[in-house]
Amino acid sequence: MVTHFSRFQHLLLQPRLLSSHQSRALQHPLIRTLTVIRSVMGSSSSSSSSKLLFRQLFEKESSTFTYLLADVSNPVKPALLIDPVDKTVDRDLKLINELGLKLVYAMNTHVHADHVTGTGLLKTKVPGVKSVISKASGSKADMFLEPGDRVSIGDIYLEVRATPGHTAGCVTYVTGEEADQPQPRMAFTGDAVLIRGCGRTDFQGGSSDQLYESVHSQASFHANLIFTLPKDTLIYPAHDYKGYEVSTVGEEMQHNPRLTKDKETFKSIMSNLNLAYPKMIDVAVPANMVCGLQDLPPQANL
Ligand SMILES: [Fe+2]
Repeated sequence: MVTHFSRFQHLLLQPRLLSSHQSRALQHPLIRTLTVIRSVMGSSSSSSSSKLLFRQLFEKESSTFTYLLADVSNPVKPALLIDPVDKTVDRDLKLINELGLKLVYAMNTHVHADHVTGTGLLKTKVPGVKSVISKASGSKADMFLEPGDRVSIGDIYLEVRATPGHTAGCVTYVTGEEADQPQPRMAFTGDAVLIRGCGRTDFQGGSSDQLYESVHSQASFHANLIFTLPKDTLIYPAHDYKGYEVSTVGEEMQHNPRLTKDKETFKSIMSNLNLAYPKMIDVAVPANMVCGLQDLPPQANL
């Protein structure tokens, strides 16, 4: 697993160089104390870090959340977007420009069936942006992730956990556990765990058996772990249809009406949902397999 960590070392941005004055200041006991206090100030509804800029954005038509994360302690202010939507790309870029951020990565948790991803469009509008998705998705992108990989923006990183079941290629992105990373930790679960729900498992290689294992299993370190994260870990899903914005691992372990059940009951619930065929699936999935752009110019590298 550790070997995966080095695969993207070349993509890590250089940490800010400290002047000797700044280095001395950080050694001051009062400043060390303040740093520690700041790192434990996280509440149940938001994560706390002096480095992290975090925004939760919403696309109404597909009820999709897009997440913007940036390391504002780095002079470049490198940023990434998780699950951008094509229809809200201009809004996202306006915000990124207003905040003076540099978009580096446009990432997806999985190949979506209910909306077209904004990653391809972002690449055409912001030169240098890399599209990112799991290798297991089978989709086109600039970077393919495997369990245990890390994606870094400045000093902040996300680790990749395989959470298949809604689709075969679903991953969850989790912030690092070290004290200098945002506390409490944040898990971007895609459609694996929704607030008081979960994604459907009846198409795109979905499996209710696999989804249950993805959430509950303790089988390996970087795969299949959501409910084994610390209970105060904030859960940020890809969608919400009821007006929720954020939950925690502990809250879902206690109150999720599907995932609190035993596996057989969960499988029975999932096979009896009788959901309609998703209206966007025939457009969205083929588009999302090529980064959200179907008619590619020959030179495009998505
Ligand atoms: Fe989905």
